[in-house]
Amino acid sequence: MTDNNTTQPGPQVILDSSATPGIKASGLRRYFGAVRAVDGVTFSAPQGAVTALIGPNGSGKTTLLLILAGLLEPDSGAAEVAGHDVVNENREVRSAVGWMPDVFGTWDALTCREILTTFGKAYGLNQEQAKSRAHDLLKYLYLSEFTNQPARVLSRGQKQRLGLARALVHDPQVLLLDEPASGLDPRSRIELRQILRQLAQEGKTVLVSSHVLSELEEVYDTAVFLSQGRTVDVNRVQTPTSAERGWRLDALDPVSLRVFLEHSDIPFTAGPGGSEVVVQLAGYDSAIQLIKAAVAASVPLHTVAPVSGRLEEAYLALNEERA
Ligand SMILES: Nc1ncnc2c1ncn2[C@@H]1O[C@H](COP(=O)(O)OP(=O)(O)OP(=O)(O)O)[C@@H](O)[C@H]1O
Ligand SMILES: [Mg+2]
Repeated sequence: MTDNNTTQPGPQVILDSSATPGIKASGLRRYFGAVRAVDGVTFSAPQGAVTALIGPNGSGKTTLLLILAGLLEPDSGAAEVAGHDVVNENREVRSAVGWMPDVFGTWDALTCREILTTFGKAYGLNQEQAKSRAHDLLKYLYLSEFTNQPARVLSRGQKQRLGLARALVHDPQVLLLDEPASGLDPRSRIELRQILRQLAQEGKTVLVSSHVLSELEEVYDTAVFLSQGRTVDVNRVQTPTSAERGWRLDALDPVSLRVFLEHSDIPFTAGPGGSEVVVQLAGYDSAIQLIKAAVAASVPLHTVAPVSGRLEEAYLALNEERA
């Protein structure tokens, strides 16, 4: 056999280290009495990437993240985080994970630096290391001016950032962030996105939940969809590739809009917010036709807009599936 054989064109196996799963879950279940909070979750989240965990309220995102953080035992199924089993290697999982809960309960009387140094020491840093880490993180998250202020003076968004700093204290391999952007102003959201990107570039596994899709649209690499405690087959909720795409419609009188669509034989699904509905249209011409017909039928239409973004398309397909 010559060396040439190894350079022949043909199928190649490309070993991509970024595809190493930082998180692997298989058949996870966790019930609370009759409530099936997590009811068969199977997915993997690659290392070096931001994975969006998407699902409506009550779909099991927080419960799943708690299991992956090693803070809640699953009833059945298995999960590995940074190569460790969440149940049998709980201690290793906890030290590999940076967990940011959706509501950050601070010790309000302690200063920001004291909170971070306390956590640093709990993760094995000595006093000097913990202090220097706290200093760096407060700077990184634009909280330096609050270093010696008690946490109670922080605004909600500033507390969120302190929560992220706390999650990063021990330089964890895997980040589990539950609605991290909630309460952040637009600039802080952009900064958060930059931080998430940077963490992924450093090779960390980032799993971030949200139901506000615009927050994740620009930052995610892969997405996991949850619906009623279950992972939804992503292939079934990918953005449609046909010429048709979703358009959101809303009217001052939503009932008249729905009646109009039914009479016109235009299928629709409930949109994510309030009274709006989503229809599939082939393009602007179809949208204009629809507007003309709706106005002629005296429907007080006030919104006709294409659904924006891949995640939103996929999310709406998910809603459709539930309908
Ligand atoms: N400790 C608990 N005891 C009883 N039921 C619970 C508990 N925790 C969660 N649940 C239920 O499990 C389901 C999933 O809740 P979970 O908090 O995981 O959803 P979520 O996707 O995070 O929702 P949200 O977007 O509102 O944060 C809900 O029906 C919830 O009421
Ligand atoms: Mg939640």
